[in-house]
Amino acid sequence: MKIIKSLDKLFHYLKKFKLKGKSIGFVPTMGALHEGHLSLIRQARKDTDLVVVSIFVNPTQFGPKEDLNKYPRPLSKDLALCRKEKANFVFCPKPQDMYSRDFSTFVNVGGLSEVLCGKSRPGHFRGVATVVTKLFNIVQPDIVYFGQKDAQQAIIIQRMVRDLNIPVKVRVMPTIREKGGLALSSRNAYLGKDERKDALVLSQALNLAKLLIKNGSRDSGRIISRMRHLIKKKKSVKIDYIEVVDSENLKPLKKISGNCLIALAVWIGKTKLIDNVVGDDL
Ligand code: PAF
Repeated sequence: MKIIKSLDKLFHYLKKFKLKGKSIGFVPTMGALHEGHLSLIRQARKDTDLVVVSIFVNPTQFGPKEDLNKYPRPLSKDLALCRKEKANFVFCPKPQDMYSRDFSTFVNVGGLSEVLCGKSRPGHFRGVATVVTKLFNIVQPDIVYFGQKDAQQAIIIQRMVRDLNIPVKVRVMPTIREKGGLALSSRNAYLGKDERKDALVLSQALNLAKLLIKNGSRDSGRIISRMRHLIKKKKSVKIDYIEVVDSENLKPLKKISGNCLIALAVWIGKTKLIDNVVGDDL
C-alpha cells in the first residue's frame, strides 16, 4: 500500500495503471475510519482492479462554529485499517495543497444543498461538492463509493455527477449499524456512555416508522409525529429535523411512496447525529 501526500505523485502513479487499462475504485473519506468505510473499501476491491482511499478533513465543508479543529484524526490507525483491507493507495493531501490561498471556484448543487442538514449548515454541501469534484479530477476513478448513512450527501453527489457529466459511476452502499442499531459514524466517538444509549433512539424512531408503514400508514405527518413523540421521551436528545422527502429531489412528500427518504437529525449534547431509511428498506 502506498501512502501519498502529493497530488502530482498520485496523478503520475495512477496514470501508469490507467494506461494498462486497470479500473480504479475510489473511497473518499475524512478519516476516523470505521466499519462503514471499510465496507466501502471491500466493495471497491470486489468491483475494481485498484483501490484508492483519500483521507482529508476538508475545511470548506465546516462552518465557522463547527468542529474542524476537534475532528478526530487518528491517521496511523486509519492507515493500518486501509492496509488490512488491502487498499492500494491512500491519498492524504495537505489542506494548503488542496486549497491555494486565492482558491475561488466552488461547486454548488442548487436546491438539494439548502434543505435537511443544509438548513442548519449553510455552505456545508458546497464544500462537500467542491472537494469531491477536486478529488474526482485528481483520482479519475471508474467507480466511487459513498455510504447511505449520509443520504443527502450521496443524493447531491449523484445529481452533481449527472449535471456535470462527470465520467464516474456512483455506488451507494448500505448503512452499517452497531448491534443495538446505532448507525456507525466518526462522530459517535464524541458520545459519552449515557449519550450513546440515548443515541439508539434514532434507529428506534426509524424502526417505528417502518412498522407503521408496514401496518398500512401512509400519512407522512402522522408518522413524523409518532417518531417525534418517541424521541422526545429522551430528555438529552434535541430534534433538528424529521422529514419524509422524495429520494431524488428531496422535496417533502405528504404520502409515503416507494421513492421516499425518511431522514432525521438530532443533537445529543454537543454531537449531531443523522440517520435515515429509504424506500427500498420500507
Ligand atoms: O463523507 C465524508 O466523509 C465527506 O463529506 C467526504 C465525502 C469525504 C468529503 O469531504
